[in-house]
Amino acid sequence: MKCATTIDLKPDYTISRVIRGGWQLAGGHGTIDRDAAIRDLIACYDAGIFTFDCADIYTGVEELIGAFRARLFAERGLDALKQIKVHTKLVPDLSTLPQISKQHILSIIEQSLMRLRVDYLDLVQFHWWDYSIPGFLGAFHWLDDIRREGKIRHIGGTNFDTPHVKSVIEAGIPVLSLQVQYSVLDARPENGLVELCLEHGIALLCYGSVAGGFLGERWLGALEPEWPLENRSLVKYKLIIDDFGGWALFQELLKILDRIARREGIDIATVAGRYVLAKPAVAAIIVGARNSSHIVSNARLAQGGLSEADIGDIDEVTVRRTGPAGDTYTLERDRTGRHGSIMLYNLNAKAS
Ligand SMILES: NC(=O)c1ccc[n+]([C@@H]2O[C@H](COP(=O)([O-])OP(=O)(O)OC[C@H]3O[C@@H](n4cnc5c(N)ncnc54)[C@H](OP(=O)(O)O)[C@@H]3O)[C@@H](O)[C@H]2O)c1
Repeated sequence: MKCATTIDLKPDYTISRVIRGGWQLAGGHGTIDRDAAIRDLIACYDAGIFTFDCADIYTGVEELIGAFRARLFAERGLDALKQIKVHTKLVPDLSTLPQISKQHILSIIEQSLMRLRVDYLDLVQFHWWDYSIPGFLGAFHWLDDIRREGKIRHIGGTNFDTPHVKSVIEAGIPVLSLQVQYSVLDARPENGLVELCLEHGIALLCYGSVAGGFLGERWLGALEPEWPLENRSLVKYKLIIDDFGGWALFQELLKILDRIARREGIDIATVAGRYVLAKPAVAAIIVGARNSSHIVSNARLAQGGLSEADIGDIDEVTVRRTGPAGDTYTLERDRTGRHGSIMLYNLNAKAS
């Protein structure tokens, strides 16, 4: 089954179905060589991945993408520059939420504009750490004002659950997309969010689809890793594997993915990514990389699909999952729990 490599989120807004993630270029994933990183981003563009994800809180990454835009223009010309889309996030610090103001939101937007070297932001994906602190709807309205003023092209959200997305829609905010975790290990969007998105034409842009690299040959047949793990992605997704049903069930899943991958001449990550891309409401998957080693494989992600029979074989394992449970990001919102306690809540001031 062939599938499209690009998708129109609006008639005049086309993205690649594989988005290059920027978190792995921030801290916590080893040393990043800035020049090599810019060359990698150019190589992504050349391979057909022309949409890039970053955030105000990914230290140095918006600046890096700004420098990449300049290099792309110099080396590939204006048409290339016009084709790329850069999706950022706006993640106000937890400590600022009680006194959040339009001015504060605007200052973060201005900072992203300056770092990315653009006149407007293609997509701003808004995050709110704590629903018990009022104000997220007001913040969405300010973002919508800023959109009307021309500094933002589209508004999205990230890590909002079904009832809160519903309230944003009911408030009349034109939500283009939601960025959420969705993978062969983590099906929480299927507990309400997917249905809501289908009803309202909201696109899901999904992270976690290769589980920080766990969904790859390196871990097939490997012993369960012991703490501490090598980088922040692996820490995050090992917790998801534990909830999924543990290392033994995960290995069963890897074996099935590997069998399909070998038959198709692709790799495990590609099968795992295609599984998510085939899901209703999913417009794109966001795949992170520390370097250029996975570009060729990731560019092939959206160049094909999985057969019904292959999806059925994968789901014979996934039906036995024990979690992760609940709505999107509910587990992560518990700041004292296993998932929430590994997060950093006040990075915006630090990244300024
Ligand atoms: N909104 C949010 O809360 C949120 C949270 C997390 C991530 N994100 C976004 O999503 C992006 C992706 O992050 P993620 O957490 O979902 O990580 P991910 O994409 O699941 O994992 C990235 C890692 O997987 C490995 N990898 C990538 N392609 C591979 C391939 N073809 N084969 C084997 N391994 C491969 C690489 O690790 P090695 O280099 O070790 O091989 C890479 O660093 C981030 O950069 C960020 O933009 C957003």
